Amino acid sequence: MSITKDIAVLILAAGQGSRMKSSRPKVLHEIAGLPMISHVIETARALSPKHIIPVLAPHMEDVAQIISPLEPAIQDSPLGTGDAVKAGLTKLQDFTGHVLVLYGDVPLITAETLTHFITEHETHRYGVTVLGMTPDDPTGYGRLVQKTDGTLENIVEHKDATEDERRVSVCNSGVMVIEGTHIHNWIKKIDNDNAQKEFYLVDLPAIAQKDGKVCGVVMGDIQELQGINDRAQLAEIEAIWQKRKRTDIMHAGVTLQNPETIYFSHDTQIGQDSAIGANTVFGVGVEIANNVEIKPFCHLEQVNIHTGGIIGPFARLRPGTVLKENVKIGNFVEVKNATFGKGAKANHLTYVGDATVGDTSNIGAGTITCNYDGTNKHKTTIGTGVFVGSNSTLIAPITLEDGCYIGAGSTLSKDVPADSLAVSRARPIVKDGWAQKRK
Ligand code: UD1
Ligand code: MG
Repeated sequence: MSITKDIAVLILAAGQGSRMKSSRPKVLHEIAGLPMISHVIETARALSPKHIIPVLAPHMEDVAQIISPLEPAIQDSPLGTGDAVKAGLTKLQDFTGHVLVLYGDVPLITAETLTHFITEHETHRYGVTVLGMTPDDPTGYGRLVQKTDGTLENIVEHKDATEDERRVSVCNSGVMVIEGTHIHNWIKKIDNDNAQKEFYLVDLPAIAQKDGKVCGVVMGDIQELQGINDRAQLAEIEAIWQKRKRTDIMHAGVTLQNPETIYFSHDTQIGQDSAIGANTVFGVGVEIANNVEIKPFCHLEQVNIHTGGIIGPFARLRPGTVLKENVKIGNFVEVKNATFGKGAKANHLTYVGDATVGDTSNIGAGTITCNYDGTNKHKTTIGTGVFVGSNSTLIAPITLEDGCYIGAGSTLSKDVPADSLAVSRARPIVKDGWAQKRK
């Protein structure tokens, strides 16, 4: 059964979020490196809706930038969830489909849940349908008061509820779908005659019933519907997200060693038969092909690794790193804005920044590309089949042409021609019997 009517999604995000104790709006705090509101927008997009309208407060220019090109509706002052929806509706004048209300601070909800939810709403021709949940501790949530046939009678906010109503375990997640043909008319009827002097969206089911409509409840999973109010909840939601992602990645054919210690970004891509060692952290923008091995304790961000790569342990791959087929990057190697050609290696204790390294070249232990002169960054170009001896210092800009050799311990500030040997180190002085005489 598929949904036949158009969908418009309102994402409420104009609230203060004061419990985050942050100078940033709550919805910009990130889950897996992506602002929480962007998670909600991605999920909304999966429903192929006709409109997505985030509802923001007037001062939230930084949020407006993140959600661009979506155009927000502005709620002038935070008078409650009902008022926020009213602000959103100014952008939906002639819309007659399903109006879905989501919260910008409930980022784990899935498109499957929402599709089922809207399908139920449409099938039963409800006026308003609410996604319910049963949290361990219902304190603070609105309670769903149901009729004996299971349909929704009313939603009572915790602060307005009687003792009896507070014993109801089914709570309002906040996710609601409303018939678009009536919503403009119903929303006008919400008042602020309640404990918080707010315009409550939760008053809609009672209003719709006065219009002869039946309202519904669909139960959802608390893990998906949990909202974020403070940083402890932010961490909880992050943990749930990570658990989901680890499972998805393993199901896609990637081996994770001690999965609970591996952290992914929202956009991490890893090919089949790759294996990730324990305690590895993925920042944004990492793309890993098939058959790559990442040994334990690595940190990667904006990195592209082709098939056959072997990385770490203890490697740091920073933005702009591209490793072609069968590259080896070993322990305590840092790479930034650099490309390694096929089969190239840097196995130990090295910094390669702003560089290209040709196919099969070998960078010895302790090599440093000196890319920064205190003012500007400069490039190191290493050809194919180059051998850089251990503890070499390459002062950029510099080019080491194809097939050349650099003697260990060299400090080089000028280019090295193809197939030559460059050595720059003091000649050793060895004095026979010197120590004996000193004594
Ligand atoms: C709301 C529900 C409650 C439900 C709970 C689930 C109402 C009246 N209450 O309560 O039944 O159990 O969510 O978490 O709807 N917002 C605006 N403008 C406003 C007020 C809020 O955009 O003027 C946004 C907030 O940014 C947030 C969402 O609406 O994303 C919910 O607001 P919040 O203040 O958290 O509502 P609750 O009191 O938690
Ligand atoms: Mg809340």
